[in-house]
Amino acid sequence: MRITLSVLKADVGGYVGHSVSHPDVLARAKECLAEAKGNGLLVDYHVTKCGDDLQLIMTHQKGEESEKIHKLAWDTFVSCTEVAKALKLHGAGQDLLTDAFSGNVKGMGPGVAEMEFEERAAETVIILMADKTAAGAWNMPLYKIFADPFNTIGLVIAENMHDGFSFEVHDVKEHRKITFNAPEEIYDLLVLIGAPSHFAVKAVYHRQSNKIAAVSSTQRLSFIAGRYVGKDDPVCIIRSQGEFPAVGEILEPFTAPILVEGWMRGSHQGPLMPVAVCDSTPTRFDGPPRVVAIGFQLSSGKLVGPRDMFADISFNHAREQANVMADIMRRHGPFEPHRLPLEQMEYTTMPQVMNKLQGRFVSLD
Ligand code: F6R
Ligand code: MG
Ligand code: MG
Repeated sequence: MRITLSVLKADVGGYVGHSVSHPDVLARAKECLAEAKGNGLLVDYHVTKCGDDLQLIMTHQKGEESEKIHKLAWDTFVSCTEVAKALKLHGAGQDLLTDAFSGNVKGMGPGVAEMEFEERAAETVIILMADKTAAGAWNMPLYKIFADPFNTIGLVIAENMHDGFSFEVHDVKEHRKITFNAPEEIYDLLVLIGAPSHFAVKAVYHRQSNKIAAVSSTQRLSFIAGRYVGKDDPVCIIRSQGEFPAVGEILEPFTAPILVEGWMRGSHQGPLMPVAVCDSTPTRFDGPPRVVAIGFQLSSGKLVGPRDMFADISFNHAREQANVMADIMRRHGPFEPHRLPLEQMEYTTMPQVMNKLQGRFVSLD
């Protein structure tokens, strides 16, 4: 059976501040998607949140970039914005950058990750969702999952993974893409994806079968809007088991928290902390950035789950480490490398300050 798994997300208002989505907003989203399931548009759905981001996880048979599915998501976000406005939630409708839907939510603010595939006898999927960070946050985890044998032993000892994976990389500034084969092109790949504010891994494919293995949302909200309108808070869908990495190989990179851009006012580096969905409540200095992972088995498109993967106690140590890293980074206050370098703040608060100071600079010569 061919099935499409679509994850569309938007921040339509935060409670309190930018810390979490309000239960009434989630309830409205569930009503909207229940109706769509009732009338046969959706096979199944799951509504959840990561911090202040509303996450619509949907299965259907309309394919990727379906106007009907995108319109359903857009209308749901608009309807949830009404709830947010009625409660005077903070930043109600924040990620809905235009007033009218025009066929596809791409470029309109919400984040999108979608993949269409033939459902396997057992189809295991993991959905990663992050808050208070940007699209490139998945670069290192995806590299480790699909190209690093120290993380994914399957690359070494599982025959069906031994030929490796290919990485589709998007240049989010120049709006172009390039594909690399791992393992033989990993050095070239790393030159680009080591700069996650510029290059983001969009998709990963199994090289032997060319099957889709992972897809992420790569839009940069600030580039779309031309100004700072909140971080992308990206999502990523990963297929697991069999010829794809095992669940444990997908989750393993998150045991070693990395520094990602985002956090307070989208202008800082901070540790990406793996948490249970109920703990995706970024509160300290509006953070630190969070990642949640929920897992499903698909059964003819039905979402059997979710399992809250980072609720496991084996991620406690990573959380402790992330908190220590947060202390170390916070110590720097408004100084780099906690605060982002100027070039990366070009769409944030810097232009106004620089404009104001322009006339006061005097040549050193
Ligand atoms: C970061 C984020 C928050 C806000 C901050 C100021 O992605 O959403 O850190 O930038 O709370 O928010 P405003 O400008 O909405 O008052
Ligand atoms: Mg927000
Ligand atoms: Mg958010």
